[in-house]
Amino acid sequence: MAKEVVLSGIRPTGFLHLGNYFGAMRNYVRMQDEYNCYFFVANWHSLTTHPDTSELRNSVHRVIAENIACGLDPEKVALYVQSDVPEIAELYLYLNTMAYKGELEKTTTFKEKVRLSPDNVNAGLLTYPVLMAADILIHRALKVPVGKDQEQHLEMARNFAERFNHRYGDIFPSPQAFNFGGELVKILSLDGNGKMSKSENQMNTIFLADDDEQIRKKIMKAKTDGGPLTPNSVKPDYIQNLFTLMSQVSTADTIAKFEADFNASSEGNCIIRYGDLKKQLAADMVEFVKPIRSKAADIQENKELLHKIIRQGAEKARISAGATLKLVRDAMGMN
Ligand code: TYM
Repeated sequence: MAKEVVLSGIRPTGFLHLGNYFGAMRNYVRMQDEYNCYFFVANWHSLTTHPDTSELRNSVHRVIAENIACGLDPEKVALYVQSDVPEIAELYLYLNTMAYKGELEKTTTFKEKVRLSPDNVNAGLLTYPVLMAADILIHRALKVPVGKDQEQHLEMARNFAERFNHRYGDIFPSPQAFNFGGELVKILSLDGNGKMSKSENQMNTIFLADDDEQIRKKIMKAKTDGGPLTPNSVKPDYIQNLFTLMSQVSTADTIAKFEADFNASSEGNCIIRYGDLKKQLAADMVEFVKPIRSKAADIQENKELLHKIIRQGAEKARISAGATLKLVRDAMGMN
C-alpha cells in the first residue's frame, strides 16, 4: 500500500526554538519512516513580513541544517526550499480565486500581523493562508504536523480544497493537522505571555542555537509564583509550560518527583521548589540542545552538502508537485 503523504513547513524568519521543535520538528522526525514526507523552508511566506532578503539565504540554510541536526534524514524525506518548486505558485494562483476577502481578513494571524505592522498590510499577507494551502495540496498531503497556532490555517486549507473539488472534480484529500499525542502543542514564552516565537521575546525563547549559559539563564528567569494554594491544584499555564518542557527532556523519575511535590503542596506547606525545578530543567535542557547545536553548526558550514541536499529535495518535491499540477490543469481545462 502507498504510504500516506505528510507535509509541513517552517518560515526562515529567525532562529528555530523549542516551540518549533516540540510543536513540529519532533513529529517530522518520528514520521519519516512510516510516511511519504515533504518538509520545506517557507521562504516565500517570509517575504510577507520580512521583505529584507539580505539574510534570507543564511536563514534558509540554518533551518535546513537544524532540521537535519534534529534527526531528519534527507535521504528518507524530501527536504526542500519553497521557491525551488514553482508549481506551488501556480496552484496558489488558482486557489486565490477560491478564497474570499472576508474570510481572509478574519484570519487570526492576519489580524495579529496588521496590528503589529500596520504599515505593511500587503496582499501577500492577506493571502498567506492560500499559499499555505497550495504548499499542502500540491503534494495532496493528508497529515500536516504543526503546532496549535496553525490550526486555523489548516481549516482554511480544507475549505479551499473542498471548493476546488466541488468546482472542478475530486483532486484533493482533506488535510488534517497532526500531532502524535493527539492534541496540538503550544509552547508558551518563558514569561508566560503568549507563545514562544522566533521574532518576539528573545529573552523568553530558547533557541536551538543558544549556548549552555543562555539556556540556563533563560530558564532560571522563567515566570513562577509562590506555589499552589491547595493540594492537587490545576497548574497555571506558565507552570504547566515548565512541566511540558520537562516532559520532553527529563527522566520519568525526575518528572514524577516534581509532579508529586506540586500535588502535595498547599498554602503554608509549599513542598515544590520552583528554583530546584528550574535548575533541573535547565541542566536537562542544556544536555538536550547541545548535540543539536553542534551538529547544526557543522552542517551549516558545509555549503557543498547543503546545496546537494537542497537540490535533491527540490527534485523529489517537483516530481510530486508536477503530477498534482497536471491533474489540476486537466480538471480545469488548462491543458
Ligand atoms: P512557523 O515557521 O511559525 O513555525 C514552524 C512550526 O513550529 C510550530 N510552532 C510552535 N508549536 C508550538 N508552540 C510554539 N510556541 C510554536 N511556535 C511555532 C508551528 O505551529 C509550525 O508547525 N505558516 C507556517 C509555515 C508554513 C506551513 C505551510 C506549515 C507555510 N506553509 C504548510 C505547514 C504546512 C508558519 O508560519 O510556521
